[in-house]
Amino acid sequence: MTLSVLFVCLGNICRSPTAEVVFRDRVRAAGLEEHIVIDSAGTGDWHIGRAPDPRTQEAAASRGYDMSGLRARQVGVADFDKFDVLLAMDDANLADLQAMQPAGSNVVLKRFLDYAPQSGIREVPDPYYGGEDGFARVLNLVEEGAEGLLEALRERL
Ligand code: 4NP
Repeated sequence: MTLSVLFVCLGNICRSPTAEVVFRDRVRAAGLEEHIVIDSAGTGDWHIGRAPDPRTQEAAASRGYDMSGLRARQVGVADFDKFDVLLAMDDANLADLQAMQPAGSNVVLKRFLDYAPQSGIREVPDPYYGGEDGFARVLNLVEEGAEGLLEALRERL
């Protein structure tokens, strides 16, 4: 049994690629890399083909995550077929995905932080135009969400 998960934000250069590398790390540590397929994408098209934002890469590297090989891509209608679970970083991303969802698609479409209810926070805040602490905050929230997501998916494998 394999489950596939796509993390989605706006640009695919800050939040969703962070979620991709953190979740991949947790999945590997759990020995489940053969069972869980992981990717990320953005609803916007501005950064297609680019590496993650240098500030995001730096924050991730400080906790041991290497994001240098990732390249941004845009989410497409085909992703609703290809993935079992689509996880939006914020409410705008969720609304954009809901608007794209083809009739009859039974993908699981949620906010990523639905898996971190104890955080009391629903959205991973966009760090792009903020200060440096925004990037550490993204990592904190993503690490919390990744733990909860792994536990939830374990039950479905
Ligand atoms: P992300 O951050 O959605 O977490 O990748 C952003 C990246 C770029 C922009 C906005 C958010 N932008 O407006 O270019």
